[in-house]
Amino acid sequence: MENEILRIEGAIKRFGGLLAVDGCSLSVQEGTIVGLIGPNGAGKSTLFDLISGFVRPDAGSIIFSGKQIGGLPAYRIARLGLVRTFQIPRALMRMTVLENMMLGSQNQTGEMIFRPILSWGRVQAQERSIEKKAEEILKFFDLLRMKDEYAGSMSGGQKKMLEMARALMADPRLLLLDEPFSGVNPALSERLIERIKMLREKGLTIMIIEHAIPYVLALSDELYVLNKGAILANGRPDQVISDPKVFEAYLGVGFDAQH
Ligand SMILES: Nc1ncnc2c1ncn2[C@@H]1O[C@H](COP(=O)(O)OP(=O)(O)O)[C@@H](O)[C@H]1O
Ligand SMILES: [Mg+2]
Repeated sequence: MENEILRIEGAIKRFGGLLAVDGCSLSVQEGTIVGLIGPNGAGKSTLFDLISGFVRPDAGSIIFSGKQIGGLPAYRIARLGLVRTFQIPRALMRMTVLENMMLGSQNQTGEMIFRPILSWGRVQAQERSIEKKAEEILKFFDLLRMKDEYAGSMSGGQKKMLEMARALMADPRLLLLDEPFSGVNPALSERLIERIKMLREKGLTIMIIEHAIPYVLALSDELYVLNKGAILANGRPDQVISDPKVFEAYLGVGFDAQH
């Protein structure tokens, strides 16, 4: 399809004898928010690991923006514009919020190992512009006032926001969010919903794994249900949610908002 930014066909991932992802296929249109739900252990996070290059698929194809990315390392996939957040935030607690943000940036000249000494001024100028960008993104999430505090001093919800803010430092075109609302209080969640919608308006494509159905319904243009590693249903969120086989899949394992 013309606007397809991501296409997965027959992705498979085994952990020993366990088929965590079992022939999963899906398609994501550019500029949309796609929800991914499913019972605990369905393989949702593992699917994100495969897409973002943190785990290598055993089989299948993953095409991002017309390019086969299946099996590429995470840093190369991130450079192509595909970045993910983790279910458990990975902020470095003994670094400041701003320092965490600076680590999320890519293509910094300052990262290069061999660099003529004369370009030092350019490096400094670039660092300043990265810092400015970090501050803008922190402001977008209402976190700017915390920029000099340790990430470890933030609340669970703020850490989740920082995780998302840091991912944006890499200028992604496709952002994968793994349970962005878990551990976030309702007021902060409402704010987060608005921010995520604003990102879509700016043209970002977003995939979200989330258990809280009201948040999924509020955000998703399209919804996929993963069950035992394969897609069980997909389509318009309200229709998918009322599909009896989706209900049954959840009943088999039980609702659980922990993972
Ligand atoms: N690194 C791993 N090693 C072994 N098993 C794993 C690993 N990661 C995930 N699994 C297993 O794969 C299955 C899918 O897990 P996961 O993708 O985390 O599910 P979900 O995110 O849908 O809850 C689970 O049975 C889980 O225990
Ligand atoms: Mg998970």
